[in-house]
Parts: sequence; structure tokens; C-alpha cells
Amino acid sequence: MTHAGNLTSADRPIGVFDSGVGGLSVLNALREELPHERFVYFADSAHAPYGERGDAYVGERSGVVARYLLETHRIKALVVACNTATAAAIHRLRADHPALPVIGLEPALKPAVALSRTKHIAVMATRVTVESRKFETLRASLAAEATFHIVPCDGLAGAIEQSDAPRIAALCEQYAGAAGIFGSDAGQIDTLVLGCTHYPFIANELRRHTGEAVRFIDTGSPVAQQTRRRLSQTGQLATQGEGAVLLLSSAAPESLDSATSRWLALPAGPARLAQTAIAVTA
Ligand code: DGL
Repeated sequence: MTHAGNLTSADRPIGVFDSGVGGLSVLNALREELPHERFVYFADSAHAPYGERGDAYVGERSGVVARYLLETHRIKALVVACNTATAAAIHRLRADHPALPVIGLEPALKPAVALSRTKHIAVMATRVTVESRKFETLRASLAAEATFHIVPCDGLAGAIEQSDAPRIAALCEQYAGAAGIFGSDAGQIDTLVLGCTHYPFIANELRRHTGEAVRFIDTGSPVAQQTRRRLSQTGQLATQGEGAVLLLSSAAPESLDSATSRWLALPAGPARLAQTAIAVTA
């Protein structure tokens, strides 16, 4: 599949990027919401994890990846499928590319407040995300409505990136314990916000520590709906044809390939719509 050449505006692909494989959780929601679109997914795995680096580093990498996707793949919109990169870089990406729809995501605190009964909400995210001004502004705006138990999860995205099951299990136990007591009674945490796009893939492991009744919230579907709205507004929505996914990684592509076969929901059928991951330099 090639994304270059004489494509009409609607035919051009949507760029999606994350520090690594986590954004595949957002790509699943995008593909469900926008079945006719072509996606270029970029995993910046050579520079992952972003979540324990400084803002300047994440901002710089986000800029490099966005330019690469624009110049090489002529994307019509960019989905920043990473809470950390959104927190550190979304303003700059929008300022640098004013004509490009740039859709970011942030931990779903508002939906959590609406759904929680006990109004005790745990938020798991990377350190860069929870220490960002953007997150602090969001949290402060909702402080009167709920108590947030915020846990910076150092090392967890990295362990998921490496499929390191023993480390994932140990960190889930540690961070779920740090959040507090989960349950449905007054004073207990009944809602867990997965504030990093890597975490939906370890929901089962987290579930072992929260119990079945706790509601988990991620941001895939709202972001996909927002992407549809933005493309409709600009007349760039693809409404026919077969969707497709091109997978790119800044590291050796094997880990993206194996994450894709485990986690990317592809429709049954003869066509393998996702191309085997390719390593590129950006
Ligand atoms: N998946 C990313 C997020 O949503 C970042 C993980 C990382 O690289 O630390 O924040």
C-alpha cells in the first residue's frame, strides 16, 4: 500500500502516533468508527517510553514524527494516541501545523466523574502526564466534584512495551495498592481511569487487584468520534472503499508486529489489512 501520489483529500491517510505500541488501543477504536479510512501508525519505539522523560524531549520527538508523517505520507489529520505527548506537545503541534487537524487525548477525568457513584476515582498515567500543567488544570477544574487518587506509574509502559509479564504483574500490584481501596462502598474507589494508551492492554492484570465491580475508563472511542467530527467539518471523511493500516516503527519492527497480531483487532476475511511493520527513521 502506498500513501504517496495523487490522492484526493479524503483518500489521504490519517497519521496516528504513540511512543510505542500503546496507541494500538486507540487505533482499534479509530478503525471501528472510521472503517473506510487508511491509517499510518507510527510507533516511536526507539525513543520509548516517553513518560519518564522531560517535556522538551517528548515535544521534540512529537515534532519530528509529525513532520515525517506529513512530508512522507501526506497525512490529512494527526491523532496523537498518547496522553504523554498530548500533555507535552499538542499546543506546539497545532501552532506548527495550523492547517492540519490534530486530535489529542487526555485522561478521561470528566467521564469518570459522571459515572462514579462514590466519587473516588483512581487515575493511572505516566509521570510526564500527571505532572503536566494541562493535567493539573483539568484536575483542579473537577476538584470540587470528586477525590482523585493519582498514581504516576513509572516503568509500566516500558514493561508493556517489552512484554515483560513478571514486571507488569509486580507493577500492577504496586500501583493498584498505591491508589487505595477499590470497591463500591462509600469512600472506596469505584472508577479507574487508564490515563496511558498502553494500559488497556493490561486491564486483566489490573482487574486482579481492583475486583470486577470497578469501572475502567479509557479514551479510545471519544477520540475516534472526535476524529470523525473534525474530518466531517473539513469535508475529508472517507465514506467508501476498504480501510487499511500501514505500520511503522522507529525501532526494529518485531515488537510492533507481535503487538499488532495480539492487540490490533482486524476484521475476519481474506485481506490482511495491516501491513507487516516496517522500520523507518524519523
Ligand atoms: N502510551 C503513552 C501515553 O498514553 C506513553 C507511554 C510512555 O511512553 O511512557 O501516555
